[in-house]
Amino acid sequence: MGDLISLSSPLTLPCGVVLKNRLAKSAMSENMADKNHRPDLRLGRLYETWAGGGIGLLISGNVMCDGRALGEPNNVVVEKITQHLASLRAWAAKGTKEGTHFWMQINHPGRQIPNFLAKTPVAPSAVALRPPLDKAFNKPRALEHTEILEIITRFADTAEIAKQAGFTGVQIHGAHGYLVAQFLSPLSNQRSDQWGGSLENRMRFVIEIYGAIRARVGSDFPIGIKLNSADFQRGGFTEEESLRVIETLSKSGMDLIEISGGSYEAPVMMEGARKASTQSREAYFLDFAAKARAHCKAPLMVTGGFRTADGMKQALSSGNLDLIGLARSLALDPNFPKKLLSDERTTSQVKPLTTGMRWLDKLVPLEILWYTGQLHRMGRGKTPNPKASVTATVLRMVKDVGWQSLKRARG
Ligand SMILES: Cc1cc2nc3c(=O)[nH]c(=O)nc-3n(C[C@H](O)[C@H](O)[C@H](O)COP(=O)(O)O)c2cc1C
Repeated sequence: MGDLISLSSPLTLPCGVVLKNRLAKSAMSENMADKNHRPDLRLGRLYETWAGGGIGLLISGNVMCDGRALGEPNNVVVEKITQHLASLRAWAAKGTKEGTHFWMQINHPGRQIPNFLAKTPVAPSAVALRPPLDKAFNKPRALEHTEILEIITRFADTAEIAKQAGFTGVQIHGAHGYLVAQFLSPLSNQRSDQWGGSLENRMRFVIEIYGAIRARVGSDFPIGIKLNSADFQRGGFTEEESLRVIETLSKSGMDLIEISGGSYEAPVMMEGARKASTQSREAYFLDFAAKARAHCKAPLMVTGGFRTADGMKQALSSGNLDLIGLARSLALDPNFPKKLLSDERTTSQVKPLTTGMRWLDKLVPLEILWYTGQLHRMGRGKTPNPKASVTATVLRMVKDVGWQSLKRARG
């Protein structure tokens, strides 16, 4: 059965919605909102370009559900009392051209807020990021019970507005060390009330968010989640725990579970875990997908490391996943999906990056800044430039996005 599925096969989600093929753009934070945190024309241009490139599903970069809690200076914010509906509608219209699905990724960063954006961030518990990141991110305070309920409502508010604006689905950002992932991990969640302790308690936050969103958007609107296979830290959220969360979310009716892994503290989502079994195949989380498959009926998307048409086809024909997630490759070539669908020798242009100065490579989130630079080029109506100087692009992005981003952080 598995080997009959090709990259061009449509995929029907549990809610009944059909994606036109098996290629999905994973979230990449664009840092391109205007000063009021509204999407502007550049975001429309960028997503129209991607929608024209043949992809089945576009997932936006993380959109914040609370204007007081930004992950980066120029994030789009969508809150209940929003002035943004017209610009959100314009953005959604561009990203849904050519029958493309366009989902909004909804996020709250919790403690992963750079210190120049929040003096005291909120988190499940008052646990700081570990050194040296504690210099770039202030120690959070623990959320009160009522504040937790308010944030759950915020996720639902943002999802409802996304639907009103014409987005065709939403994705909860439950990965990479942001607030949902902070609740799941025993390292960052040391609460002793109903939100912490046992896995059942630690997953209550995400289950409640899912339920609150479903109640607002109805049964026929896609809801997905990006979830860590693990946080790759001793004492953190484990694979076994992730499998139990996946099983529970799948039973609750989640339409798509995207597998990633890691956090700012262990950036596995960008590099893979360097296990021999992972290195022998191009994508990072395929072993975990095979285990997840046994625990869930919900469609699975795997993101991280996919580079060749052949590798993607092999992964699909294993039957362990349903959707191929792509990020950096699409920042370098928006037409990559069309090429993958028509030529089986197609290969991504993603390559290791370096400024040639090891100290600078270590100081800045090189990959994030360089690829954000490519997104900004597309937002200005230019084509990406895979040959762009790493040093010059990184320095320009540091200036454009704010000097403070000269601190190691990532999406
Ligand atoms: C510039 C940039 C921004 C990112 N922002 C986000 C984000 O907002 N939300 C998210 O879930 N992942 C984010 N990521 C991670 C990607 O979605 C993806 O998991 C990672 O790049 C691995 O996939 P790839 O090997 O195809 O690039 C970002 C990655 C990059 C390069």
